Amino acid sequence: MTHSHPAPWRHIPYIPYTPPQGGLAAARNFHDAMRRRRSIRFFSDRPIEAGVLDLAIAAAGSAPSGANKQPWRFVVVQDAGIKREIRLAAEAEERDFYARRAPPDWLADLAPLGTDSEKPFLETAPALIVVMKLMKDDPDAQGRQGNTYYVNESVGIAVGFLLAALHLSGLATLTHTPSPMGFLTKVLGRPEHERPFLLIPTGYPAPGCTVPDIVKKPLGQIMVKDRG
Ligand SMILES: Cc1cc2nc3c(=O)[nH]c(=O)nc-3n(C[C@H](O)[C@H](O)[C@H](O)COP(=O)(O)O)c2cc1C
Repeated sequence: MTHSHPAPWRHIPYIPYTPPQGGLAAARNFHDAMRRRRSIRFFSDRPIEAGVLDLAIAAAGSAPSGANKQPWRFVVVQDAGIKREIRLAAEAEERDFYARRAPPDWLADLAPLGTDSEKPFLETAPALIVVMKLMKDDPDAQGRQGNTYYVNESVGIAVGFLLAALHLSGLATLTHTPSPMGFLTKVLGRPEHERPFLLIPTGYPAPGCTVPDIVKKPLGQIMVKDRG
């Protein structure tokens, strides 16, 4: 029995990743670290160590994607003027959301988080990572654009990698979705085939930063074995 793929496609050996401490210890370490991740909404302006964002985004770029189309772009915004433009545009949308567009159920679900239309962190955080999803491939030299597949699933997985990489590098994040996010295309001058997916402020927490006292569902509630 063969475990390699038939010609004509070129295949290479798969090199397994073997955690030096063993699988269970590695799983435990990862869980211990990840369960301490929280979304924060109070950032300090402390700069991010050089190289960390590049490596975290490169890690995100290693994610699986539909037909390996890698339908993502990560726009790193560190310029104070652009951050201010984003804050002003986001707050305008959010004021309308909280005052008019949000259905009562949604507002009730948001209440324990204490969020409102003020978004100072969009200026305070040293970096905003604007994640764009690619609705088509980038154009080739002739301007032709191929398709992308399972775009939301693929970009969602890549963002999971990104959040984990940033967290394990000691940075905090907020997964932010000012609604609607179309203004980001304009402010950042992105092309038509890219659509805003998420806005991720990242940096270090402000001194005394607090987070909502929420709980995660226990394993027994989120995992089912076989048919339960
Ligand atoms: C897709 C998505 C969109 C979110 N949008 C917002 C947002 O616009 N504003 C905000 O303050 N938090 C937002 N959050 C953060 C959630 O409120 C937060 O993840 C949740 O309350 C759980 O808290 P934790 O991240 O600290 O575990 C979003 C999270 C996700 C995954």
